Amino acid sequence: MKTIARFVFCLSVPIFAAAFSACLDGNGAYENGVGVETAAGFVHAINASVLNRIDEPRHAYILPAPKTDGTVSVEAALANRRSQRNFQNRAISAQQLSQILWAAYGITLPDPRPQLRGGFRTTPSAGALFPLEVFAIVGNVEGIEPGVYRYVPEGHKIVRIVDRDVRNELMAAALGQRMIGAAPASVFYSAVFGRATARYGQRGIRYTYMELGHSAQNVYLQAQALGLGTVAIGAFMDGRVSQILGLPANETPLYIMPIGYYYD
Ligand SMILES: Cc1cc2nc3c(=O)[nH]c(=O)nc-3n(C[C@H](O)[C@H](O)[C@H](O)COP(=O)(O)O)c2cc1C
Repeated sequence: MKTIARFVFCLSVPIFAAAFSACLDGNGAYENGVGVETAAGFVHAINASVLNRIDEPRHAYILPAPKTDGTVSVEAALANRRSQRNFQNRAISAQQLSQILWAAYGITLPDPRPQLRGGFRTTPSAGALFPLEVFAIVGNVEGIEPGVYRYVPEGHKIVRIVDRDVRNELMAAALGQRMIGAAPASVFYSAVFGRATARYGQRGIRYTYMELGHSAQNVYLQAQALGLGTVAIGAFMDGRVSQILGLPANETPLYIMPIGYYYD
């Protein structure tokens, strides 16, 4: 019954077909230009037990598979979650980064239909349109070169879009909030509002912000469960952040969430 309801909500109304196709270019590639992942590639990636580096066509990594079980209960994570701003100068592992990105927007129910871009996620999404883009700002992550990476849920991989450590530049763009420069990595979010407004009009803006809240709370709780900390940062200069990350014009920066070990 749940499957039928999801199908009706997301896919069965023909009038929405045009809205879905707006997410894709003529070749079936994503509008953000990350590229196409084959079904076979997805299966390979999601089974990866170690970090796999790819150099062509762009520097990228298939992340180690995330775990779907852990030792900290959701209740304990909720009870102990706090925004952390005092980070240690200590690397996090690729496995920890993998887990955080999966919690943010990872795939939990693979689905081959191209409009779902890999399938349903850890985060609820109005109409399963997935208007968010998630990035890893990497400074000090074991086995991963510094830079800015776009997270591609399909295939659980990260693709480099900026090949330098931008943490201090981002910190300056965020009014000098030093945790961005100090943390070994940050999760960064942008929104492609058009994916949601094409179907829902202005209400799509509201839905996108709601979805960001769902996803960001996942990051808070996953960080807590891994013994790491984070803080949701909304105060920054949009134009400067977009410039540093080279964001396309249709993407709006929303959150920076530094991740790392912290001092109590
Ligand atoms: C929309 C939003 C924007 C925020 N922006 C910032 C920010 O720019 N800098 C910061 O240090 N904390 C920021 N925070 C974190 C809040 O300051 C923090 O959640 C609040 O103090 C409550 O503390 P707690 O998260 O530990 O419960 C933001 C939180 C939200 C929800």
